[in-house]
Amino acid sequence: MNSPEPDRYAVVGHPIRHSRSPLIHGMFAGQAGDRLTYDLIDAAPDEFESVVREFFESGGKGLNVTVPHKRAAYRLSEHIGQEAALAQAVNTLSIEHDSIRGDNTDGIGFMRDLTVNLKQSVAGRRVLILGAGGAARGIVGPLLGGEPSELWLANRTVERAYDLRKEFLGLGEIIVSSFEDLGKLPPFSIVINATSAGLKGEQPAFPGTLLTPGSFCYDLAYGADDTPFVAWARAHGAGQAEQGWGMLVEQAAESYLIWRGHRPDTSAVLATLVN
Ligand code: ATR
Repeated sequence: MNSPEPDRYAVVGHPIRHSRSPLIHGMFAGQAGDRLTYDLIDAAPDEFESVVREFFESGGKGLNVTVPHKRAAYRLSEHIGQEAALAQAVNTLSIEHDSIRGDNTDGIGFMRDLTVNLKQSVAGRRVLILGAGGAARGIVGPLLGGEPSELWLANRTVERAYDLRKEFLGLGEIIVSSFEDLGKLPPFSIVINATSAGLKGEQPAFPGTLLTPGSFCYDLAYGADDTPFVAWARAHGAGQAEQGWGMLVEQAAESYLIWRGHRPDTSAVLATLVN
């Protein structure tokens, strides 16, 4: 008797070579004894849509979408989850009623890492997000939902921060600052790096007055060593500085839940990745 083909999943990005998603989803599948494959697909922006359509037409079950395609994935999705609609970005594609559904699990993955794994609460705390691009857009809604006392947004190009603020007005108040004015502000309780500066090995010269020993810093980016932001935070006296490995694993678990109907155990997978 022939056993059925394993279900097919993949992550699409450009570049994609260094993605840890196959490793993470492979471990999730191993926990549950799920038979599936999870591949890397490198697609340039002008190929993205045809690659996605071909994947699903040939029976693929689900795709993760990463830089630079999250907006394009949002545009091609026929059904959109609530978080994806807010972020106007999609990182998880699946098939629902024969058409493509787009979800965004970045925000929920971030909040789970922050509040469950790292045991931080957002309620009543002054929070600063550095950066106003795609990564910031994915976390603003969930952070506002956590009811911080103040949510600040600072960006090198300050107009982009104002644009983002306008989009989220219905959900809560965001206070915008330029990078230049950050030195005039009292320290923050939580500081989140959502810029892509570190990916280029850069770290903007943020004032150390943003931090006290009570400050918790989180970098949405991650790497084998301290990211430039984590190194900056430690050097300027933050009580705790973490990089985004936990968010990576938690957003993957939420995608897995959408695709397979059960949420994997993330703690063992996270421990394997960071050790
Ligand atoms: P992503 O999806 O990673 O957020 P993006 O939408 O291109 O990518 O946004 C990149 C973010 O990192 C932006 O906030 C960008 O600032 P600008 O809007 O001023 O471009 C920020 N960024 C990138 N390189 C930076 C640097 N060297 N210093 C400060 N901010 C930087």
